[in-house]
Amino acid sequence: MKVISYKSELLEEVSILKKNQKVTGFVPTMGALHQGHISLIKCCNKECDYTIVSIFVNPTQFNDPNDYKKYPRILDTDLELLKKVKVDILFTPTLEEMYPEQDNRDFDLGELDKVMEGAHRPGHFRGVCLIVSKLFEMVQPTKAYFGEKDFQQVAVIKHLTRLMNYPVEIIPCPIIRENDGLAMSSRNMLLTKDHRQNAPLIAKTLFEATEKSKTQSVQETKDWVVRTINDNPFLQVEYFEIVDETSLKAISNWDNTSNKRGCIAVFAGNVRLIDNIRFN
Ligand code: PAF
Repeated sequence: MKVISYKSELLEEVSILKKNQKVTGFVPTMGALHQGHISLIKCCNKECDYTIVSIFVNPTQFNDPNDYKKYPRILDTDLELLKKVKVDILFTPTLEEMYPEQDNRDFDLGELDKVMEGAHRPGHFRGVCLIVSKLFEMVQPTKAYFGEKDFQQVAVIKHLTRLMNYPVEIIPCPIIRENDGLAMSSRNMLLTKDHRQNAPLIAKTLFEATEKSKTQSVQETKDWVVRTINDNPFLQVEYFEIVDETSLKAISNWDNTSNKRGCIAVFAGNVRLIDNIRFN
């Protein structure tokens, strides 16, 4: 695994890959890696000749400066984990490399950033688009891999890719869960013992909601999810929406669409966790 921090060095490597017509797979991350990231890398290894991973904690996607400050940065542990899988290049740029000057670009995301994460984290998806566009232009991947835990992010990045005409295929990969059901996330390591013990209720409730949905209306199911989680003193729901998987528009009736996804954000103390589940 070559560890590269400079854009110029990365561009040299990428131009060789392009000349040799290699299928390049890309897994962008913010580090604090876990088995969810490893599953993306393994999927990338299967489908591509060459695997490039990036680690960069992107300040422009944090609407809360405190959240940016406390985001886990554990590069040494990340390097150990990455040694266990095939990674050809690890790109770990500095802030100056990625943002040599202020980037004022805006992206027309239509309605995609007006709901859920977009509504509760103003500017978040603009920051994601800024960094992903920079990374795509540097890495020029054939395929890029994103976890479905960030379901709305995947929809936004697919949109960005079409908007900017990037010749990259976006591959969504399933959520990886801990044994107790909690969706893997870099933020889980910030949970206190009590919050960690109670956080699996989020996934448990989502799974049970798919059963409830067979006999209950959309509104009844939504109310039940929010009530069940809020009854736990360690958890506080920020939103729970059941949306069409492509447009992300909230549905009011199960027959509104055949592809339905329940998306949730929950505060466990001051750590914000997200999760989602498919409804049939
Ligand atoms: O999902 C993430 O870790 C980040 O949002 C991403 C895509 C690496 C951009 O910073």
